Amino acid sequence: MRKKIVAGNWKMNTNVKEGVELAKALAGRMSEVPSDVKLIIAPPFTHLTSVADIIKGSGIALSAQNCADQSKGAYTGEVSAAMLASVPVEFCILGHSERRQYYEETNEKLVKKIALALSENINPILCVGENLEERESGKLFDVIGAEIRDVLFTLSPEQMAKVIVAYEPIWAIGTGKTATSDQAEEIHAFIRKTLSEKFGALADEISILYGGSCKPANAKELFAMKDIDGGLIGGAALKADDFIAISQSY
Ligand code: PGA
Repeated sequence: MRKKIVAGNWKMNTNVKEGVELAKALAGRMSEVPSDVKLIIAPPFTHLTSVADIIKGSGIALSAQNCADQSKGAYTGEVSAAMLASVPVEFCILGHSERRQYYEETNEKLVKKIALALSENINPILCVGENLEERESGKLFDVIGAEIRDVLFTLSPEQMAKVIVAYEPIWAIGTGKTATSDQAEEIHAFIRKTLSEKFGALADEISILYGGSCKPANAKELFAMKDIDGGLIGGAALKADDFIAISQSY
């Protein structure tokens, strides 16, 4: 049985006080979250230690949104996987399209980041996805296939077993446009098939999340698809009501 996961990517939103309030609101409502659904929240770096204290013992897991591609030293402004592990942080989003697009996050850098995260026992949530031009020109399978192969095929099966994949069509992120459940399922199945080329039956154990304007109104239809195991939620993760409602959408 694959894990059902609803992860909230807060991006660059909320100040520390607001983030702590949101975490408190979620922790106080965990009895409303189905027991077989894992809730993960990814606040900004500045919030992590305070939020870790709030959610301790609640069942909510903590994630970062990025980590450095170096282990330590003179890299001003960067935060290492070891620092995140010391919070402690259990998960780390890597390769989000906003980082690929605005911060030159290449598959090459992601190979380093994913290895560093895993070496600190942090479970990577690797994001993949195509932009509108790549979808319309039919290049989407090449793009997503390369994002999977170039990064995840460097891992051993033991390492791969710790990874969550998130499919996020870039044209659906923050735009209000959601992939239809059929469009999303087609890519989720493709990702699983690609993973099986290297990892065989392990591919069936990997949770693959959908992200991109996922909200209470569409989560049920998406999560009902065979290869969609949950969601990576942006905007709707900033409202406790919406985030909890999404967790109830299986
Ligand atoms: P969105 O973002 O739900 O606001 O579209 C999803 C994401 O980028 O993780």
